[in-house]
Amino acid sequence: MTDTPSGSAHVPVLLEQVVEALAPVDKGVYIDGTYGGGGYSRAVLAVADCKIIAIDRDPDAQARAWEHAGKDARLRPAPGRFSELHLAARANGHEHVDGVMLDLGVSSFQIDQAERGFSFMRDGPLDMRMEKSGPSAADAVNLLEEKQLSAIFHFLGEEPASRRIAKAIVARRADTPFSTTLDLAGLIESTVGGRQGKRTHPATRAFQALRLYVNDELGELVAGLSAAEDVIRPGGRIVVVSFHSLEDRIVKHFLRERSGNAGGGSRHAPEAQRGAAPSFELIARRSIEPTDEETAINPRARSSRLRYAIRTDAPAWGEADGYTSRLPRLSDLEGMMS
Ligand SMILES: C[S@@+](CC[C@H](N)C(=O)[O-])C[C@H]1O[C@@H](n2cnc3c(N)ncnc32)[C@H](O)[C@@H]1O
Repeated sequence: MTDTPSGSAHVPVLLEQVVEALAPVDKGVYIDGTYGGGGYSRAVLAVADCKIIAIDRDPDAQARAWEHAGKDARLRPAPGRFSELHLAARANGHEHVDGVMLDLGVSSFQIDQAERGFSFMRDGPLDMRMEKSGPSAADAVNLLEEKQLSAIFHFLGEEPASRRIAKAIVARRADTPFSTTLDLAGLIESTVGGRQGKRTHPATRAFQALRLYVNDELGELVAGLSAAEDVIRPGGRIVVVSFHSLEDRIVKHFLRERSGNAGGGSRHAPEAQRGAAPSFELIARRSIEPTDEETAINPRARSSRLRYAIRTDAPAWGEADGYTSRLPRLSDLEGMMS
């Protein structure tokens, strides 16, 4: 557990299961693609005398990794995104590594700090950028067309009221652009109705969608899985923890396809790759889920799913399947900002 500035803590999810799935060995080299508060890295370093290349796109998390590295030279912080984890490995002198861990999404550090703008429960700037640079959530809601906003809420939030919310946003911003989290959350609540006994806040799905969009999280995941396939040596492991169905679907599909378990053939695989030798061996078809005890202690774990696989000696299949969507590109939004 690592303390956040607000006094709460980031509790690593499925920690024991992740370490067991990664099965780290002495002298091994591993990539923690989502260092966060370093919970996974610490647990791995506690059971094996290995090296960990610690990536995180958030400058605050990188600072934590550097602080950690000052106390344990086996941790090697690397800036950047996990879609480029092969570059981080190379920069640290490794063409191949023994395993990659990815713990997707945001940390409690990010959610709990109102000024990062991730939470509809805390008033802060409508930001949501993990990297603290590039277009923010406010840029998206103030600049994108109604159709584009609706697509984001529909595809990335699976929000049934996507059109109504987009329409209400566009009508409201004509008077006053959105700048804060609670302003947007309030507009969504008044558009789709209050909680009415539901467990989740009415803005949950729209906020998730904006966060995924602003950080291109699904694009990162697709690219990160391919980069891991390239860089993990035969016998090495990939371990991924996801938090919602969109992410888990991508991980499940990737691992099933590349282990020859796609069911009905790899129709999504590039033509040249159909029938290619499996690049991963899937240990269990089903995902690993948290126990009731874990979710009682850490409600954030509730929707987590762990999937892992072992790299075979077959060549990598190359770039993973893109996620199909009719989403505006982040570069389009950047263009609108200038
Ligand atoms: C759930 S937290 C990880 C928590 C960590 N496992 C721990 O035990 O403390 C996810 C972290 O991944 C980072 N992140 C998300 N997407 C990323 C990406 N594409 N590249 C690099 N870091 C990313 C976030 O900034 C966040 O710090």
